[in-house]
Amino acid sequence: MNPASPFLELEQGPRVSVTFDGAQLELPEGANLAAALLAAGVDVLRHTPVSGAPRGPFCMMGACFDCLVEIGGVVRQACMVEVSAGMDIAKPRGDADGPV
Ligand code: FES
Repeated sequence: MNPASPFLELEQGPRVSVTFDGAQLELPEGANLAAALLAAGVDVLRHTPVSGAPRGPFCMMGACFDCLVEIGGVVRQACMVEVSAGMDIAKPRGDADGPV
């Protein structure tokens, strides 16, 4: 992963198709996923399991876990993942809308 700011790479390189909760997005290939989702207007990546409060990327360095998403059914920190073609991204199922 590129150690520079995750926001510097958002304007460069080819775009690839991914889905987030079923909606198709075109994100920069190889970019930091959390930064790319924010730049695409997706600022709520999960809801807390108890209160259902919305959460989105905060620390961008793997410390806060507010950026948790499911990628192909596996829960990951979006700020620790690079964008690749065909990613199937969703809010984690343990949110207020689903089982814990
Ligand atoms: S934004 Fe804090 S862990 Fe990803």
